[in-house]
Order: sequence, then structure tokens, then C-alpha cells
Amino acid sequence: MKEQIKFSKNMGRNLVVLLAAILILIQFIPVQKTNPPLLREPNWDSQKTRNYAVRVCFDCHSNQTVWPFYSKVAPISWFVAGHVNEGRENLNFSEWKAKFGKDIIEELEEKEMPLKSYLLLHPSAKLNDTELTEFIEGLKKTIAYSQNDF
Ligand code: HEC
Repeated sequence: MKEQIKFSKNMGRNLVVLLAAILILIQFIPVQKTNPPLLREPNWDSQKTRNYAVRVCFDCHSNQTVWPFYSKVAPISWFVAGHVNEGRENLNFSEWKAKFGKDIIEELEEKEMPLKSYLLLHPSAKLNDTELTEFIEGLKKTIAYSQNDF
């Protein structure tokens, strides 16, 4: 009986050491966390619309991501970098292309974006109804002004 308790105590300790070692080792796996140069923004209808986009979308949809402290620590860094890299592929306000204009309004009206997990950690990105309406109106104009790739 005594032996058994000792055995499981050692097992527990070994497991903790193993987990700690894994946590340390995964920190060395490279994660692509870049802020490439700014190429071309859309033709914003106003500074106000741009400010909304910066506040709510830029962290994942621009080359001006503010990488939070927890994005330095694996495995969280993998999720954050994954969101940003995937987000930029779908829509990048710093490398604007006319085709990006297609789905933006729909995503906003259906409240699909920003991602829920992002709002949990960035409460200031939450827009109230008035702000959301203003942002959508501004974006509609911006998209209309930015229909040509130049
Ligand atoms: C936390 C990161 C994050 C934030 C913040 C964010 N997005 Fe996204 N967005 C993503 C990711 C990841 C994808 C690709 C996967 C998907 O569609 O869910 C995406 C996809 C999109 C797409 C393409 C959707 C499609 O299916 O074609 C649009 C449009 C979009 N986002 C708009 C926005 C707008 C507008 C904002 C700001 C209001 C915003 N996003 C904020 C991460 C984010």
C-alpha cells in the first residue's frame, strides 16, 4: 500500500517535470509573427472609419498588428499567429485589393467579425449599435471609393 502511494507520487512528479519540459521546448518552435511593410490602404471615406477599423479589425487584418504579451508564449502564440496570418489572407487593410470589399459588410452585419475570442481579450473592440452602424456606413463608402486596384 505504502509502496503504491510512493509510486503514484513519483508518477505525478515525473508528469509535472515532463509537462514543464515540453512547455519549455515548444517555445523554440518558430512562429511567424511579422508586421510586413504597409503597401496600400483603401481610399478611406474619413479618418473616423479608419479609426474604427484600427480599433476592431487591424490586429488581424493589417500589417500593423499589436502583438499582445501572451502572443510570445507557445502554445497561445500559435493560435494568435494563426488568426493573424489567416486573417491577413482574407482581408488586409494594408495591402488593399478591390476583391476584399466583397464580404466585409456582410461579416459585420451578421456580427461574424471580429472573432469572439478576440473580443474577450480586447473589450475595447466591442462596438455599440450606433458605432457599428456608423462604421458600416463609412465602410460602404470606403469600399465604393476603392473599387479599382491601382
Ligand atoms: C482575432 C482576429 C480577427 C479580428 C480582430 C477580425 N478578424 Fe476577420 N478574420 C479573421 C480570420 C482568422 C479569418 C479567416 C477565417 C474565417 O473566415 O473565420 C477572418 C476572415 C474575415 C473575412 C473573410 C470572411 C470570408 O469568409 O470570406 C472578412 C470579410 C473579415 N474577416 C472581416 C473582418 C472585419 C471587418 C473585422 C473588424 C470588424 C475583423 N474581420 C476582425 C480574424 C479576425
